[in-house]
Amino acid sequence: MSYGYFDDTKREYCIQRPDTPYPWINYLGSQDFFGLFSNTAGGYCFYRDARLLRLTRYRYNNAPADAGGRYFYINDNGDVWNPSWQPCKTPLDKYECRHGLGYSVITGARAGLSVTHTAFVPVGDTAEIHRLKLHNESSEKKAFSLFSFVEFCLWNAMDDSTNFQRNFSIGEVEVHGSAIYHKTEYRERRNHYAVFAANRENNGFDTDRESFLGLYNGFDKPQAVLEDKSRGSVASGWAPIGSHRFEIALEPGESTSVIFVLGYCENPANQKFEAPDVIRKEPALALLAKYQTDEQVDAALQALRTHWKDLLSRWQLFPGDEDPRMVKVSRMVNIWNQYQCMVTFNMSRSASYFESGIGRGMGFRDSSQDLLGFVHLIPERARERILDIAATQFKDGSAYHQYQPLTKKGNAEVGTGFNDDPLWLIIGTAAYVKETGDWGILDEAVPFDLEEGTEAPLMEHLHRSFGYTATHLGPHGLPLIGRADWNDCLNLNCFSETPGESFQTTANFESGVAESVLIAGIFLYCAPDYIEMCKRRGETEKTAQAEQAVRAMKEAVDNHGWDGGWFLRAYDAYGKKIGSHECEEGQIFIEPQGFMGMAGIGMDDGRAVKALDSVKERLDTDYGIMLQQPAYRTYRLNLGEISTYPPGYKENAGIFCHNNPWVSIAECTAGRGDRAFEVYRKIAPAFLEDIVQLHRTEPYVYSQMIAGRDAARHGEAKNSWLTGTAAWTFVNISQHILGIRPGFDGLIVDPCLPSGVKGYKVERLFRGVRYIITVDNTAGMQKGVKSVTVNGKPVSGEILSDGGDAEVTVVMG
Ligand code: GLC
Ligand code: GLC
Repeated sequence: MSYGYFDDTKREYCIQRPDTPYPWINYLGSQDFFGLFSNTAGGYCFYRDARLLRLTRYRYNNAPADAGGRYFYINDNGDVWNPSWQPCKTPLDKYECRHGLGYSVITGARAGLSVTHTAFVPVGDTAEIHRLKLHNESSEKKAFSLFSFVEFCLWNAMDDSTNFQRNFSIGEVEVHGSAIYHKTEYRERRNHYAVFAANRENNGFDTDRESFLGLYNGFDKPQAVLEDKSRGSVASGWAPIGSHRFEIALEPGESTSVIFVLGYCENPANQKFEAPDVIRKEPALALLAKYQTDEQVDAALQALRTHWKDLLSRWQLFPGDEDPRMVKVSRMVNIWNQYQCMVTFNMSRSASYFESGIGRGMGFRDSSQDLLGFVHLIPERARERILDIAATQFKDGSAYHQYQPLTKKGNAEVGTGFNDDPLWLIIGTAAYVKETGDWGILDEAVPFDLEEGTEAPLMEHLHRSFGYTATHLGPHGLPLIGRADWNDCLNLNCFSETPGESFQTTANFESGVAESVLIAGIFLYCAPDYIEMCKRRGETEKTAQAEQAVRAMKEAVDNHGWDGGWFLRAYDAYGKKIGSHECEEGQIFIEPQGFMGMAGIGMDDGRAVKALDSVKERLDTDYGIMLQQPAYRTYRLNLGEISTYPPGYKENAGIFCHNNPWVSIAECTAGRGDRAFEVYRKIAPAFLEDIVQLHRTEPYVYSQMIAGRDAARHGEAKNSWLTGTAAWTFVNISQHILGIRPGFDGLIVDPCLPSGVKGYKVERLFRGVRYIITVDNTAGMQKGVKSVTVNGKPVSGEILSDGGDAEVTVVMG
């Protein structure tokens, strides 16, 4: 069954029926103000921080699914329905949802009335715009009511969903004409409020949930809508909402529109009130004035489209022929993959339909990796992010695992001790320097743990990162794993027997010997870039130290990290092997095979290829590569959370998409284009449309996990949107398969293609110059570049034009 299709020219995914296999969402907003918006108008919005400044309420894990949103109801002479189908679920004569870049448009029609709901966050404003265009398609005059509805969250989403003894007494609003102001806690320590307003006079309003819905009614049966009568309620405690009612009459063929603004406003602390207890409304009025007419809304929407067009024009693929594979690749690489990279950069792992917005803020390792797929879009924001991340590092080089975006402070509850964390800062920084050539970032003064007076150049932070790994080694000379490495669920010092105890923050048996072969791989992968940065800064002592540490690490991997057919995964707290053929379960893990290959370890002596062959043989499935095999069937005290998941899910032998691109990149490093592409294709959404009912999550974005072979629902995806898969896949397809990769001195072009791809063109904006790169593969190679010319002149090595467009021709052979 089909639920929709890609509309590539419009850069939209068009959903044609509302009852998708799972809510299919979009993100509105790209800086500061964000909304999650599903294909049935579900979701919520927040300012900067989904936990601390949430404007509207959402009910996770609700039945029915996807409850809470920006709902609009029509009461057409007793016939009550929503253009977005939910929550009433009255059958529609027509339904369509188009998710575009930063906006969504839902159209629903019933009994001759068609309603088009356009939702977006304008560039530069802290508000959602919801425009409803109503069109009488019938030959009769129509007179009906339109109701709006949002439910306010009392700002702190954690508190909002737990602290009812207080919350039910604090809700406050003000109503002025069609503007409803939500001002809970404004009387005391907050200097911000929300406004939900419409651009026309209303025929009634409600601000109290119970008055609007009726205590025992759901969103699908609001009493006020059923009776076609607003109550004029003014919330006092309980649950504040915003609802308007409008009486609308349309002649046959006539249209009208109503524009709603749902915004966040702040006042200076000393100018909060215009009269005792009356909020100062200037910021709201200024905001509302910008969205009073259709022309204003159209212009803002156009500005948003232009914004995205400019961003994406920095990296565009033009497939040479009609190869259907390349059409799908373009769809991903030109539109959806880059779009998802923006979303993961903004959200880290905080707010999605699987991440509640209250659990995790920004991750040190996650955000450092998200940068990799984002840095070419807005390098200045990547720069700022790197400095923020570095500021949560401790003096000894270790780091807070997470921080809150609003305060930028490290989260003390999760703390530190994830021993891979420090290295990702090097990887993120190197990617930024390569993209921009901005070596100055390495001199930026950044504090440790945000402590004033501890500022040191960013390069010093990288030294501490590298030094941390180099000096925290176990008995085999491999890096100590600490609480976990990239795999959050390999908790080798945890030994937890108490339900509810956190696997990541508990250390009941810290023997000081558990080691990670993966961290060795990450270390060896980032070392060449780190050393290059040291050298170019003339830091000879650091260079020598690093080179020595790399030699030692390589030796440790050679002596203790190779299992005969693949790389080992780790040593546990007793010094026993994990990820070895000697193990009963968990014999082979994907992560070190990918990372060692990416680092080039074993490329010269056949080990890398052997390891990749073992991955194919033992971990591959039709739906992607599983994290390890055989799955753990029982809980193992010495392994931690990984063995808590039922076989086939998550880290316990699920297809953890994040590290599939590592294998693909390693295959490119080995020059095997067919296999690299196969790995790419298996998890790429555009290639999965046919199995959408099995896959379930959005067909335009990557999910974190697809159930593995051992699971009952093998092939079913979960945790869509917020995953490192987005960034790593973009790195893989753009830099390794299509092969256009920033180096410290310029662009490197070195494709690794599947058989049958004859050539393509890429336009890429790099350090202010537009490169138009034509790859000619009439020779039918998988790998190998015969010649490169820039503006007609043959060149070798990295390409850098000193101005003007650069026409680059790359001939494979
Ligand atoms: C999640 C986490 C990420 C971790 C991965 C594997 O995606 O956000 O930090 O590396 O799981 O456990
Ligand atoms: C990551 C893992 C997840 C684990 C969590 C703990 O998100 O994917 O399985 O429970 O980290 O923080």
